Amino acid sequence: MTTKALWSGGRLSYGGDWNPEQWPPEVWRTDVALMREAGVNLVTVGVFAWSRLEPAPGRYTFDWLDRVLDLLHAAGIRAALATPTASPPPWFTHAHPDAMPVTADGARLHHGSRDTYCAAAPAYRAAARHIAATLAARYAHHPALALWHVHNEYGTICHCVHAEAAFRRWLADRHGDLDALNDAWVTSFWGQHYADWAHVGAPRATQYLGNPGQLLDFRRFWSDTLLTAYTEQRDVLRAANPAVPVTTNYVLGDWVPVDHARWAREVDLVAVDHYPDRVDGGAEEQTALAADLARGWARHGAGRPAPWLLMESAPDQIHTPGRMHTKEPGRMTRHSLAHVARGSAGVMFFQWRAPAGGAERFHSAVVSHAGADTRVFREATALGAALSRLGGTEAGRVEARVAIAYDAASGWALRHPGMPRAGLDHPGEVAAAHRALWHAGITTDLVMPGDPLDGHRLLVLPALYLTSDATADWVRRHVHAGGHLLVTWLSGVADEHARVRLGGYPGAYRDLLGVRVEEFHPLADDERAPLTSGGFGRIWSETLHLAGAEQVTAYIGGVLDGRPAVTRHRIGDARAWYVSTRPDDDTYRRLLTDAARLAGVVPTCPAAPPGVEAVRRRDGERSWLFLLNHTDRPQRVPAAGHELLTGEPVDDQVTVPPGGVAVLCEPPR
Ligand code: GLA
Repeated sequence: MTTKALWSGGRLSYGGDWNPEQWPPEVWRTDVALMREAGVNLVTVGVFAWSRLEPAPGRYTFDWLDRVLDLLHAAGIRAALATPTASPPPWFTHAHPDAMPVTADGARLHHGSRDTYCAAAPAYRAAARHIAATLAARYAHHPALALWHVHNEYGTICHCVHAEAAFRRWLADRHGDLDALNDAWVTSFWGQHYADWAHVGAPRATQYLGNPGQLLDFRRFWSDTLLTAYTEQRDVLRAANPAVPVTTNYVLGDWVPVDHARWAREVDLVAVDHYPDRVDGGAEEQTALAADLARGWARHGAGRPAPWLLMESAPDQIHTPGRMHTKEPGRMTRHSLAHVARGSAGVMFFQWRAPAGGAERFHSAVVSHAGADTRVFREATALGAALSRLGGTEAGRVEARVAIAYDAASGWALRHPGMPRAGLDHPGEVAAAHRALWHAGITTDLVMPGDPLDGHRLLVLPALYLTSDATADWVRRHVHAGGHLLVTWLSGVADEHARVRLGGYPGAYRDLLGVRVEEFHPLADDERAPLTSGGFGRIWSETLHLAGAEQVTAYIGGVLDGRPAVTRHRIGDARAWYVSTRPDDDTYRRLLTDAARLAGVVPTCPAAPPGVEAVRRRDGERSWLFLLNHTDRPQRVPAAGHELLTGEPVDDQVTVPPGGVAVLCEPPR
């Protein structure tokens, strides 16, 4: 990742997806005037516009996009110009039925939605490169162009013959020969041994459980296939004008077959879309986690702290399963500034204007079906003004001394149906650890195995199931350098091919933790395992033997009565904790607070009252303290400096309004 600058003048980006192709030119002019009123300086255009740019093969209608970009430029608004390849036009589908995706059970999907293509199909790839090259030839030097936005939310998976052929090539590259493949996939089990590459296929629907190694490799392969589809377009765009940064917007979710960390090395700026789906305080926890993940990917890609961009977010809705919840006043601003506090180079919405029809006609928009005389437009305008006062804060690096490891492949591997329990979820366990630390007021970095741990006093591995020798080494080096460690159940159990490490769980970390796990005792959904610390464990429990570690907490009752649940192993000055169950939220918060304290880490703003989120960014002597009040009462926080949103000096205490935000430029240390 090269992190080419989006803006030179230290301004935060502000705007969202704009779809002028859905409207007549009079509306474009109204929109641009409203954007100026709201302080918008960046809009994403053209995301799904392929059929409007190329209505028939090789026939282009660029006149409307010319006018749109000129209009934006005249208004001083810059464009993130998309390549429209997430929605191939009907003519493409009809000409290339073999480029339509095939599900695992063999159904071929049809035109009528979006994202209906196979990224391994040669016809699709050629058409995507071609439209990207045609756009680049026309707009690569347009003065409004700030950023190329390739595609939209890569994620469609396919099991067709093109995908299978590409999978075999990828496997040959990864494993070298069939012996190595058979070994990695343990094909001796159920007589799956392969003697001919031509017999190796995509993991299609089968009679019973599929091969875990095959499923895992297919996920990795598909992430790489989508990545190549992206880099092909990127290279075409870069060749036309190397000065313009190129990115694609990441979509977050368990279904996404993309290892975003690996992609971070290939984008000029990590860009994420974030849509929380919980209405209670969960939306705020999810926002903090998504922002910390995005920052982690950016850091992983650049090899050092780097900015990232919130490319999409919903102005006024939270989509819960089955219902759209309208955000309460101030919540949009809090979510937006939480992203900025945690490193986003700006705030972008999906979408600027709500469409009059189409599948997402009731999705959130800055200019809603009711127009611009609305609460949401007024809040968006106030947010634009707030962002203009925060320019410069992006120089600060987010302060975090606790790191949580995240690994997409561990998430994929744990979802194999042959695990000892359904619903095992590495991202969910990452979220639980992050949530506990968020409630403890401790800011965390998300890191990928192997990333530099600089200044991180405590490393947390939540159900980091897959552990290569290199990952085990990375963890060992951290501890031997004096870093503290907290490992939870299922970590280190398997190698990078999902083969179980023998000799007792948690395989790779047994010695470091000074424990040996003999048996798993997965818990039922409604089962609780009481703990001597108070509270209880959920989801999982284990028969654990001490082998150097001391017992911190034991199970109470049942077959594990009196046996260790949480342990601690002293290695020099460091401590290596093992947690063999998922503690309830309160117990987990207390446990992680203790582990952090022993590691010398305290909350970001120890005096902040409950419900006030605090994040500090620092650049040498300068620092900024973001305070987000998630309660419905004013909250007083001991702090000093200059409050940037009100422009008021703060001597020793700032009052953050109900549901509001304060950002202090603090006096030098
Ligand atoms: C995603 C997509 C958008 C739109 C929004 C709706 O992030 O990128 O095109 O579908 O979700 O919330």
